[in-house]
Amino acid sequence: MEYEIKTIGVLTSGGDSPGMNAAVRAVTRAAIANGIKVKAIFRGYKGLMDDEVQEFTTQDVSGIIQRGGTILKSARSEEFKTQEGRKRAWQTLKKEKIDALIVIGGDGTFTGARLFAQEYNIPIIGIPGTIDNDLWGTDSTIGYDTALNTIMDCVDKLRDTGTSHERLFLVEIMGRDAGFLTLNAAIAAGAEAAIIPERATVAEQLEDAIGQGRRKHKNSSIVLVQEHAIEGGAQAVAKVIEKEHPEYGTRVTILGHLQRGGSPTAFDRILASRLGVAAIQALLEEQRSVMVGLQNGQVVYVPLSKAIKQKKDIKDDKWQALQVLSI
Ligand code: F6P
Repeated sequence: MEYEIKTIGVLTSGGDSPGMNAAVRAVTRAAIANGIKVKAIFRGYKGLMDDEVQEFTTQDVSGIIQRGGTILKSARSEEFKTQEGRKRAWQTLKKEKIDALIVIGGDGTFTGARLFAQEYNIPIIGIPGTIDNDLWGTDSTIGYDTALNTIMDCVDKLRDTGTSHERLFLVEIMGRDAGFLTLNAAIAAGAEAAIIPERATVAEQLEDAIGQGRRKHKNSSIVLVQEHAIEGGAQAVAKVIEKEHPEYGTRVTILGHLQRGGSPTAFDRILASRLGVAAIQALLEEQRSVMVGLQNGQVVYVPLSKAIKQKKDIKDDKWQALQVLSI
C-alpha cells in the first residue's frame, strides 16, 4: 500500500436521498470492523472547508437505517468549486489527520471529488446517492427506488380524483436532466404518457396522444412531465392543452421535494449497505477516484470520470412499453 489508511472521512453532499443514512452506517461500521477510524463531516464540502468534523463510533450510526434524509446534513457548495475552497478543505483533512474520503452524492459531488483528488492526491471513493439515477456505471443509485415508489403512490392517489372528475392530470417529476424517474414511474403507475428530455416529444405529439386516448374510451388521463423536458415544466404543457381543450379540466401537480423524503425501501437499504461496505473494501484494495456501483447484481468499481461523463441510456423497450400499454 502506498500509505496506510488509518482514518477516513465520510460526507453526504448535494440533494439528499433516502438511503444515505444506511450508507453512512455501512461505511462507519465496515471501516471500524477493519480497524479504521471514522470521522463524520457535516454539511458536505461546506463542513469539510469549515472543519465541522466529529469522530463516529458504531453507536453513532445506530437506529438510522430506516431514516430518510441524512444525519450528516447536506449542502451544495459554490466555494468548493474554487481552488481556495478546496485548499481550505485540504487543510481540514491535514488537521484532522484524515487519510481518505468517502463521498456520498451525485454528479456534482463526484465532480468536486475528482478535482480535489487530482489536486491533492487523496484517495476518494464515491457512493452514488441521488434520486435521479443519472450516474453511469450503476444500475441504480441510492434513493432512486424509494423516490419511484413515492411517485407511484402519489400518482395512484391522483388517479382517484382524475377518474372521479374525468380530468387530465399533469404531474411534474424531478430528475435534473434525466427522465428515469419519470418514465419508470409512468410505467409503474399506468400513466397515459411521459414527457422526458431523452425523447423528442413535442407538445403537439402529446396533445395528439391525449386527444386520441380521450376520444376513444378514456375519460381521464395522467401524464408525467419531467421537470426540465420542456421549459416551464408541467405548467407550460398545461397552458398549451388548456387553450386547445378547455373541456379536459386539466390540473397540474408538482410533486417537488416530496420525492426526496421518506423511509428508504428495502431495496435502497440493501443497496446502500452493500455499497458502503464495498467502498471500504475499495480503499483496502488501493482503489482511488472510483465510484462503487451495482451492475447486474454485482458490485463494480467505476472511474468517477466515467460515472459523471458517460450518459446512461433510457431503455428503448421501456419507452415502447409505455406507448403500447397506454392505448
Ligand atoms: O438531484 C436531485 C434533485 O432533487 C433533482 O431531481 C432536482 O432537479 C434538484 O435536486 C433540486 O434541487 P434543490 O433541492 O436544490 O432545489
